[in-house]
Amino acid sequence: MILITAATGQVGREAINGLIAAGAPVRALVRDPVRADMPVGVEVAQGSFEDDASLARAFDGVETMLLAGRDSPNAVEQHRRVLAHARRVGVRHIVKLSAIGASATSQVALMREHHEVDEDVLQGPAEWTLLKPHLYLQNLLRAADAVRHNGLLSAPMGHGGFPLVDTRDVGAAAASVLRDPAVHAGKSYRLTGPAAYGYDDVAAAMASVAGRDVTYEAVVPRDYEARLLAAGAPAWRAFDLAHIASAYAASDNTVSPDLPMLLGRKARSLPEFMEDHRALFGR
Ligand SMILES: NC(=O)c1ccc[n+]([C@@H]2O[C@H](COP(=O)([O-])OP(=O)(O)OC[C@H]3O[C@@H](n4cnc5c(N)ncnc54)[C@H](OP(=O)(O)O)[C@@H]3O)[C@@H](O)[C@H]2O)c1
Repeated sequence: MILITAATGQVGREAINGLIAAGAPVRALVRDPVRADMPVGVEVAQGSFEDDASLARAFDGVETMLLAGRDSPNAVEQHRRVLAHARRVGVRHIVKLSAIGASATSQVALMREHHEVDEDVLQGPAEWTLLKPHLYLQNLLRAADAVRHNGLLSAPMGHGGFPLVDTRDVGAAAASVLRDPAVHAGKSYRLTGPAAYGYDDVAAAMASVAGRDVTYEAVVPRDYEARLLAAGAPAWRAFDLAHIASAYAASDNTVSPDLPMLLGRKARSLPEFMEDHRALFGR
C-alpha cells in the first residue's frame, strides 16, 4: 500500500492521479473526506498530523509513502510525528517532498525546516528519496487579480532568473518514484522547469495571455514583508515569502535534467503554464 500525505495538496493530488492511472494501491490521508473528493479507486483515511490514532489507522499495511505537508511553524513537529508512525510499522521507502534551497543556514525558516526533516528521513531505517522542487509556477496564480486589474506583477524576486516548475509535473514525478521506489533509493532529485526566467520574462508571459501590458515591480523584500503584514499575513509567512529569493544560491537556479528523466517527457514551461491559465489572467 502507498500512503499519500497532504493528499489534497497540489502535489499530492497529482501524485494520486498518476498512481491510480497506473493501477497502484493508494491510500490518501485527508482531514475532510467530503471536501477531499478523491478519485475512484483511492482508499481514503480520515486523519490529521495532530491525531496519533488516525495516523495509526492510516499507516496499517503501508510499505511506501509520500511525506508532504503545508509550510507552518508546526511543520517539523508534524513531520516528525508522521515519521514516528512510519518507523513503528516498518515503512520500507519514504519519498519526501522537500525544496531546492533547503539548508540549515537559510534565513528562510521553511528552508531550515525542510532541511531538518530531510536529515531525519535520511536517518532511516526506511529507504528514502528526496524530491526538491524549485518555486512552483502555480505561485504566479496569486498575481492574477492584480494583473487583471492594474497590469502589475509585484514581487520581491529582484532581477535574477528562476527555473519555476509546475506542480502537475512535480506530482507526476512523485508518482513515478512511488511506483518503482527501489530504483530511486538514496537519490535526491532537483525538480526544475526547462528554463530559468526573470520576473520581467514572467510579466511578459502574463501579458501575452492577459491581452494587456504587464509591468514587473521588483519590490524590496522588507517592503514586501510590510505589505503582507499589513494585509494580515502571519509574521513567519510574511518573512519567508518576502525573502524567498535569498534562499537560492546561483547553482540552485540552474535547470536540472532530473524532472524530464522521471517524467519521460519535457517539463512544462512558463508559456505552457500561462496558456493553461489564460482565463484567470484575461480581462
Ligand atoms: N510553493 C512553492 O513554490 C514550493 C516550492 C518547493 C517546495 N514547496 C513545498 O511543497 C509543500 C507544499 O506542497 P503542496 O503545494 O502540494 O501543498 P498545498 O497545496 O499547500 O497543500 C497542503 C496539504 O497539507 C495538508 N495539511 C495541512 N495541514 C495538515 C494537517 N495538520 N494534517 C494533515 N494534513 C495537513 C492539507 O490538507 P487540507 O486540504 O485538509 O488543508 C493539504 O493537503 C511544502 O512543504 C512546501 O515547502 C513549495
